[in-house]
Amino acid sequence: MCGIVGYMGDRKACPILIKGLHRLEYRGYDSAGVAMVNADGNLNVFKCRGKVDDLEEYLKGKDDSGTIGIAHTRWATHGVPDNVNAHPHYSESENIALIHNGIIENYRVLKDALIQKGFNFKSETDSEVLCNLIEYIRNEEKCELAEAVRLALNKVVGAYAIAVLEKGNNDQIVAARQSSPMCIGLGEDEFFISSDAASIIDYTNEFVYVNDGEIAILRRHEPLKIINLENKDAEFNITNLDLSISQLEKGGYPHFMLKEIFEQPDTLVDCIRGRVSPETAQVILSGVLDNREKFIAAKRIIFVSCGTSWHASLIGEHLIEDLCRIPVEVEYASEFRYRNPIIHSDDVVIAVSQSGETADTLAAIRIAKEAGAFVYGICNVVGSSIARETHSGSYIHVGPEIGVASTKAFTGQVTVMAMLALAIGKERGTIDQDVYEKIAKDLLVLPEKMTEVLRQDSNISDLAKTFTYAHNFMYLGRGYNYAVALEGALKLKEISYIHAEGLPAAEMKHGPIALIDIELPVVVIATSEKTHEKTISNIQEIKARGGRIIAIIREGDTQIKKLADWVIEIPALCDYLMPVIAVIPLQLLAYYVAVYKGRNVDQPRNLAKSVTVE
Ligand code: M6R
Repeated sequence: MCGIVGYMGDRKACPILIKGLHRLEYRGYDSAGVAMVNADGNLNVFKCRGKVDDLEEYLKGKDDSGTIGIAHTRWATHGVPDNVNAHPHYSESENIALIHNGIIENYRVLKDALIQKGFNFKSETDSEVLCNLIEYIRNEEKCELAEAVRLALNKVVGAYAIAVLEKGNNDQIVAARQSSPMCIGLGEDEFFISSDAASIIDYTNEFVYVNDGEIAILRRHEPLKIINLENKDAEFNITNLDLSISQLEKGGYPHFMLKEIFEQPDTLVDCIRGRVSPETAQVILSGVLDNREKFIAAKRIIFVSCGTSWHASLIGEHLIEDLCRIPVEVEYASEFRYRNPIIHSDDVVIAVSQSGETADTLAAIRIAKEAGAFVYGICNVVGSSIARETHSGSYIHVGPEIGVASTKAFTGQVTVMAMLALAIGKERGTIDQDVYEKIAKDLLVLPEKMTEVLRQDSNISDLAKTFTYAHNFMYLGRGYNYAVALEGALKLKEISYIHAEGLPAAEMKHGPIALIDIELPVVVIATSEKTHEKTISNIQEIKARGGRIIAIIREGDTQIKKLADWVIEIPALCDYLMPVIAVIPLQLLAYYVAVYKGRNVDQPRNLAKSVTVE
């Protein structure tokens, strides 16, 4: 959470920092600030509660000059979102300014020690503690800023991506990373710093990803220098990122979420491209081919993930158990990491993450690697921490997802999982050739089927009006569609703030059926051929109790059409792939309900796109 950005070069820093903050706002948006050193060496910090727009307003008439600066958009962890807790933080003497993404776990001990030394604190943050610790060490040791940062970080326990400026020095930024993302963009005699390369893609496509335990020293007119916490030079590679600016804009849509929903037919084409042959319907996934033996020998597959990625993993469980006959477990990364899990060297752990930066998923990967498992990543963000820390993997290639509610990442993840299951099943000889060909052919038509579903946009928008004032929703699905029910419920609650519960349809009668009445809309995802009759029984149980049903059905399903109050018909595909299109009406329903309720769809309250804290 939190976004950090920095700049040093010949241009005015402030507009670059503000633009970067706007792009990073998905990471947190409760307060924002900038620090710049002007030509006279003054270190100016401007910050306020609210969004980056509020900061821009606040900056009017202030000294925003300087060709060096750092900036921050916050998602509060320590201390309420207000002007004082906003970043950057000054050190006590106001000679140093610091921005921080992460959590300093031992900040209380450090703070007490600094108070003993006479330091005063203005904010409740752990970040101000680190800033003062750097100042204390700089004064005590009479050392350079970079050395003070290094010594301070050796005393710190926790996660951080920081950038530090000092008064009187407009030629240097010191930045460091531990478990929070950070990259350095390289320009012509200029440097950029960001939590996310996409935010600075306007200026450069050459990036260096800073690794955990590394400190980047950016000095004007000098090459980038990276050292580790032991003060040894660290080697680094320059990565070229192929990303277009248009992918980061709304492109005429009112919200990123709606743009991202409508992009899905194209993002699926990108996801499938080069992996499923249109001529032979063969699936080629290099990550599986390169690690054939690992997948053939796998005794168990464990998915680790969070949120929407966890829902996609539940579908991965069905796909792999059905087609590869390998036992699968699906774990919340946050539970897995603290449970002392039993992991064997012949386990394959699959980490699923859109951002590739989710702290719990990263921790789960590290535990699995330590236990000797082979770890495979399914990520979206190229070059992200999870992509780099896994042994191998497959990108979903759906492009930047900016709306906080995940949409195109889910469909990309499930699509990759279907290809993964086909590729592994083929290698293990567990998949029937007809089934293989049917799924592969359906994968090729997925984008056009999705376009057909999206044509129902205005009907779904009308339907959403009916339910804008509902207080609760229930979502039901069986088999593959249980995960779709969970995902539909999550979408609705996170952007509309309406309580919603996703359940396996058959579980309803074990308790939740007590909730059924005319006030409670029940969304039933009823597209599965395998469980069709059973789902009809569940619908009848709800109708018998006065419930109102919105059913997502296969085209031409007259039986459910007669029973449900509203239906959304979607084209037929094999059961394995139905979740990829069945989720579209649920994304649209959540979107329109949230819009009619006047919610901030792209930046819902209390949330951030990338959860880089525990
Ligand atoms: O980047 P990740 O896929 O690892 O993120 C996991 C969750 O934080 C994320 O899916 C979250 O639940 C979304 N807000 C859901 O829309």
